[in-house]
Amino acid sequence: MFEKLREKLILRKIHEYHKIEGWLSDNEALGLYHIAHKLPRNAVVVEIGSWKGKSTYCISKGLKSGKIYAIDPFNADAGLDVGSQKEYTDNKGVEDLLVNFNNTMKRFGVHKKIVVKKGYSTQFHKDFNRIDFLFIDGDHSIEGCKTDFDLYSPKIVSGGFIAFHDFYEKRDELGPTHVIKKFILKSTNFKFFRQYDTLWIAKRQ
Ligand SMILES: C[S@@+](CC[C@H](N)C(=O)[O-])C[C@H]1O[C@@H](n2cnc3c(N)ncnc32)[C@H](O)[C@@H]1O
Repeated sequence: MFEKLREKLILRKIHEYHKIEGWLSDNEALGLYHIAHKLPRNAVVVEIGSWKGKSTYCISKGLKSGKIYAIDPFNADAGLDVGSQKEYTDNKGVEDLLVNFNNTMKRFGVHKKIVVKKGYSTQFHKDFNRIDFLFIDGDHSIEGCKTDFDLYSPKIVSGGFIAFHDFYEKRDELGPTHVIKKFILKSTNFKFFRQYDTLWIAKRQ
């Protein structure tokens, strides 16, 4: 009862996320806010795959202080995830994706918490030595997702979080499902924390 009321209040706080195009459900938006809100001050959040900023906005609203590094080529490239390419191309719109992202973050007052890294995830991993929260929602192919996991997850601090969007228990052909089932659940470095719809979260031990 109390929890439901709290969730309603948070959804009201982040209500503007409805105005941003993307693929997050209400529950997933809540989940991102919750995790970001749990982080210590001056947290470092790395988001791989920002698109038009729906998830970036939710994380930024939860973050008490620190930065969210938004990594995306901002060119609607699905990478090795060929199955998503048409959807990205069809939904890109006429405005440049980075201009759209920056304008939206400014419009909703969260831009000061965000550092844009325009490019592919493989270009930036050396820029980080500690990560409090890693959100992987970029290239959804098995290879793309595993590369992101391998390059970035060793930098997550003990007590920090990793989250994937699009975990579908029975769809082993998807990168997030594959990496979670084959690597994270078998690793002693991570422990399942919570799932909000397809947003799957583990804690670094
Ligand atoms: C599903 S969308 C992200 C949705 C976003 N998180 C949201 O909530 O609205 C995936 C994004 O990842 C980007 N992407 C694909 N491969 C990438 C890579 N290797 N590094 C960073 N971003 C990548 C795509 O271009 C696309 O913008």
